Amino acid sequence: MATSLSPDTSPQAARIHACRSITTCAHNRLQSLDNTSRSLGGPPAGLRLCTDSVPSRSVWGVMDVESVKLMAARLLQPELGRRWEHTRGVAGRARSLSGLLGERTELVEVAAWLHDIGYSPVVRATGFHPLDGARYLRDVVVADDVVCRLVAHHSGALVEAGERGIPELADEFDLPDSELLEALTYCDMTADVDGCPVTVEERLSEILMRYPSEHVVHRSVVRSGPALMRAAANVQRRLGAAGG
Ligand SMILES: [Fe+2]
Repeated sequence: MATSLSPDTSPQAARIHACRSITTCAHNRLQSLDNTSRSLGGPPAGLRLCTDSVPSRSVWGVMDVESVKLMAARLLQPELGRRWEHTRGVAGRARSLSGLLGERTELVEVAAWLHDIGYSPVVRATGFHPLDGARYLRDVVVADDVVCRLVAHHSGALVEAGERGIPELADEFDLPDSELLEALTYCDMTADVDGCPVTVEERLSEILMRYPSEHVVHRSVVRSGPALMRAAANVQRRLGAAGG
């Protein structure tokens, strides 16, 4: 009996292929993370990386925080240690908003762990990290749509997309719920490069100092700064009203 040699193009096969691609390209980078992975409670690197790289969903459909944390560690920690420390700080800020966010705390924490994965050499494509991260989550991880949109639009990304001349961000990702976006932006804007708590003003000043005035990030933050401060103030006001 003849056997068909046609490739399996089903969605399931595509996803398995994507998982194997992650496994293959990330495997070498992740070897040194075995011990870290174990300390984070995850399984060792190896064949089961497929399931490690595609976070499972919690009972209400949001990706599981622990598996997302492990994925972020594997993407950021090997070469971007300081970015990883910042990410840990942002996730901690998200957990601190539980009195305000209630059941949505987990959603914002998931987005916090993932918001900067676009900087990872594994994920980086265009060099604009909100878009690269959101596309990776959408196309490879097949993440929740709201998580993709939060990552795409975090911390004034739309303004920077305009400065960079990248219409694809707005074309491909709708704005998420404004309160969720403000919460994630608050978390990002109140954790410094090492993950330590700072005021929004301190965070913005540090970014403006880090990038020269002609740099696209500097120009973008000059434009988006007032909106970022408003977003953080809105969160603090709601937090106060909620007794947090
Ligand atoms: Fe960040």
